[in-house]
Amino acid sequence: MTAPLKLSSRLINELASRNLELIRATDVDGFLDKADVVSIPSWPEFMMHDSVANKYWGALNEQHSDFQYALIDQTTQKWVAVGNSIPVSFSESLERLPDAGWDWALLSGVEASDPPNLLCALAIQILPEFRGGGLSTLMIEIMKEIGQHFGLNQLIAPVRPNKKCDYPLIQMEIYIEWSRAGEKFDPWLRVHERLGARILKVCPQAMEISGTVHEWQEWTGLVFQASGQYIVPGALNPITINVENDHGVYIEPNVWMLHS
Ligand SMILES: CC(C)(COP(=O)(O)OP(=O)(O)OC[C@H]1O[C@@H](n2cnc3c(N)ncnc32)[C@H](O)[C@@H]1OP(=O)(O)O)[C@@H](O)C(=O)NCCC(=O)NCCS
Repeated sequence: MTAPLKLSSRLINELASRNLELIRATDVDGFLDKADVVSIPSWPEFMMHDSVANKYWGALNEQHSDFQYALIDQTTQKWVAVGNSIPVSFSESLERLPDAGWDWALLSGVEASDPPNLLCALAIQILPEFRGGGLSTLMIEIMKEIGQHFGLNQLIAPVRPNKKCDYPLIQMEIYIEWSRAGEKFDPWLRVHERLGARILKVCPQAMEISGTVHEWQEWTGLVFQASGQYIVPGALNPITINVENDHGVYIEPNVWMLHS
């Protein structure tokens, strides 16, 4: 039995100054369903169809409820930010973290047999009208303190660079080297680096999203009448459509980062 979570006074003061309250899935029935008000506007539709997520996401509500959290506006009771993370076990050098990034973290965290030694970030989502105000930094800091509370002092993250979707033809290895005024070009990589995180490696198959051609048309609002590669809004790389096999697949690359 772990003592009730107590954040540092710095984070408590920061939450108070923003009139926000921290809740976790331990406090609320059906946390993940309620969190959809923040999650759904945060992702392109096709991102909701990762097969590993479809199978394992719901398990976070019960099995890892301590590590799912949200910020609620105290006046309006509106959910404004949601964070998801999962304890994982990885005993090799972190430079060898799996290429399957996000999918590996969710699957191995839910099916874990060994005691965890790391906390892994799965997602941070801010309601669109609350973005641009530094809330994501606060969310990462809370995630780190939750991990520390449970003895998980290192936070790893398969980071989804949030502006990579504007450059889907550029290799991730090249994109992550781009800079702007001495910092990373990508805003989300920048936020992590400012908090002291460092890039470990690209995870080229962090997520795999498959569907029929009809499903891909529904998810994207595009029409695919020939086999080939397509640029899809919100995707970090092109997707591949095979009309003859009635199949489309998107392999999402992410970037493993480490917060010590
Ligand atoms: C990524 C996300 C969490 C960032 O949250 P946020 O509250 O906007 O973050 P911040 O206010 O701390 O801004 C972070 C940086 O991004 C920049 N930024 C924010 N929105 C931006 C936009 N639309 N275009 C370009 N830069 C943007 C900010 O200027 C800031 O950089 P700076 O400090 O160098 O100016 C939020 O945009 C989001 O929820 N996106 C959808 C889900 C997602 O992609 N999550 C991340 C992967 S898990």
